[in-house]
Amino acid sequence: MSLPPGFLDELRTRLSLGQVVGRKVMWDSRKSNQAKGDLWAPCPFHQEKSASFHVDDRKGFYYCFGCHAKGDAISFVRETENVDFMEAVRILAGEAGMPMPQRDPQAQQKADTRTQLAEVMEQAVQYYRLQLKTGVASDARAYLERRGLSQQALDRWEIGFAPDAWQGLWDHLKSKNIADDLIIGAGLAKPSQKGGKPYDTFRGRIMFPIRDARGRCTAFGGRAMDPDDNAKYLNSPETELFDKGRSLYNHGPARTAAGKGQPLIVAEGYMDVIALSEAGFGAAVAPLGTAITESQLQMLWRISPEPIIALDGDTAGLRAAMRLIDLSLPLVEAGQSLRFAMMPEGQDPDDLLKASGAPALQKLLDAAMPMVRLLWQRETEGRVFDSPERKAALDKALREKIKMIADPSIRSHYGQEIKELRWQLFRPQRTPSGTARSGGQRSGSFGKGGFGKWQPAPVPLPSTKSSALAMAPGDTVTHMLRESVIMAALITCPQVVEAFETPLERLRCINPDNAALRDLILRHAHEGPEVLREKISSARGPEALENLLSASHVAIVPCIRTPGDADMARITVAEELAKLSAARGLDAEIADAAEDLTGVADEGVTWRLSQAAEAADSANRSTQKEGSGDFVTADNGVKLEKGEVTRSRAMFDAIDFSKRGRKQH
Ligand code: UTP
Ligand code: MN
Repeated sequence: MSLPPGFLDELRTRLSLGQVVGRKVMWDSRKSNQAKGDLWAPCPFHQEKSASFHVDDRKGFYYCFGCHAKGDAISFVRETENVDFMEAVRILAGEAGMPMPQRDPQAQQKADTRTQLAEVMEQAVQYYRLQLKTGVASDARAYLERRGLSQQALDRWEIGFAPDAWQGLWDHLKSKNIADDLIIGAGLAKPSQKGGKPYDTFRGRIMFPIRDARGRCTAFGGRAMDPDDNAKYLNSPETELFDKGRSLYNHGPARTAAGKGQPLIVAEGYMDVIALSEAGFGAAVAPLGTAITESQLQMLWRISPEPIIALDGDTAGLRAAMRLIDLSLPLVEAGQSLRFAMMPEGQDPDDLLKASGAPALQKLLDAAMPMVRLLWQRETEGRVFDSPERKAALDKALREKIKMIADPSIRSHYGQEIKELRWQLFRPQRTPSGTARSGGQRSGSFGKGGFGKWQPAPVPLPSTKSSALAMAPGDTVTHMLRESVIMAALITCPQVVEAFETPLERLRCINPDNAALRDLILRHAHEGPEVLREKISSARGPEALENLLSASHVAIVPCIRTPGDADMARITVAEELAKLSAARGLDAEIADAAEDLTGVADEGVTWRLSQAAEAADSANRSTQKEGSGDFVTADNGVKLEKGEVTRSRAMFDAIDFSKRGRKQH
């Protein structure tokens, strides 16, 4: 039925959400401010003692800070009264004294049909349950007993049996004078192609009723008794009652259990859900024989902010998890994510509970991996990253994934986490014997291949030299100056090195001194500034460092003048690398890689970079205008040309200013 334009707006303005909600909750009088329409109560959508449920009466919206339920008066009535949209509108219109427009007779009929179909389904549930108690079901009963289901469990789950007959259910329902259309419309029978009587959809199967959140039976899952049957499980076809992608097995009871604090577990099959619930994990659900859909994800998140996906411990399970990650990345928000509990190879939750009991499962749940770990695992497991190209490819793949996250704050946290994992993976590992070993902080499965091994930086290719020769002399000088700035920044602040490992390895230093420094930096940065300086001194001579840091173009760089500011060092290096790659027309990949993984996620850093670049640009222009020749002495005693001071100040200011506007992580 369509409503006349403006009807809903009128309804919303006439209603007080506070009044609508007030019938279902007890306002917290101390926290609420009635006069301002600022109302707080314990949430009606989840179990809690505190008042996290907020109603903004003026705006007509509610939001729960605990379970994130949110909406307006209509959605509130839909949820609390378990009615559909139109029914909610009808209820609210009645309260607001607004006459409902004439009901569309077709819609009326549709609603009636659904009610009738649901009744037929109930009849079928009773029939199948009864059949399970009869002689035809002795094998089925024995099977269920073998699978460890008690009589109570069979009753609780309303498990039944469809006899292996063509018209068992059909004849039963017909004897109750139920119309053909309803039986077929409920998906319980199919019309015969040969002009005979319609035949039962389910034959020779153990029957699992599937109920929606409101408890209506909308479908069945039927497990074949015959192991040779080509469909082990058969589900009801989609009907007016049953939308597969919007249904979850055990939805209602799981929601209740989750409300009482049970972790929401998503398993693959009916038997898993039953086994989990029977073992005390009451908040278990399963999709219905298909991959989890976006609607199902949203349904899960309405129950719990972080459902745990119980993964089958095989490659198919892992593949399904990856598809699920791709589906959920754009949708994750604060307090709305997924975790993954990996079952042992070849076991589903049902098998695991049988073999090892509830504590074993609990242990897996406790160890459930956040999504970011699984992403990382997929991109790294079983691979060797022994070349800059491979590392860059890894960075690129992960960056692509992180980009899918819509929520900026979450995106940034993913970037941080990936960065941390990357650091652990690529950090050079040293052992007393000098042989490589894999990193101590990685779990076993990540340790394959030469991850922890120090990989020497590539030997400069002959093309390096020729390309340097091909440059204009001025460009060569600029290039070498930038190289020096990069090395100096990294030496004063070695903790930023790991963010730039790939572009550094790929950097073609024209000045061989810088190339040597670069190699030393890559090798020793993780040991801290003191060790790094020592190594440089012993390898390159005590004056090498002095010469580099006091060179006038280096000494003015803010992060050298005030050593220890990692943010500033990072910006300097990123900027210089970007300029080098731009100037040399190198492939975009380097520029890409120079962009710190977190940089992708953090608009703050990107913005700061652009501000810094702008400042440097305008400072360059002003230098030209002012001319040069005037010298001042900088804080660190180095003589500087005045234009350079202006430039560095401007850059420094831009960075400092933008830093204040940056959100903290
Ligand atoms: P599984 O083959 O893993 O079965 O299918 P299971 O749940 O472990 O069942 P048991 O333990 O052998 O009885 C997992 C889920 O995939 C769907 C069903 O929903 C099943 O529960 N499925 C499986 C189908 O829809 N059709 C099939 O033919 C097989
Ligand atoms: Mn199973």
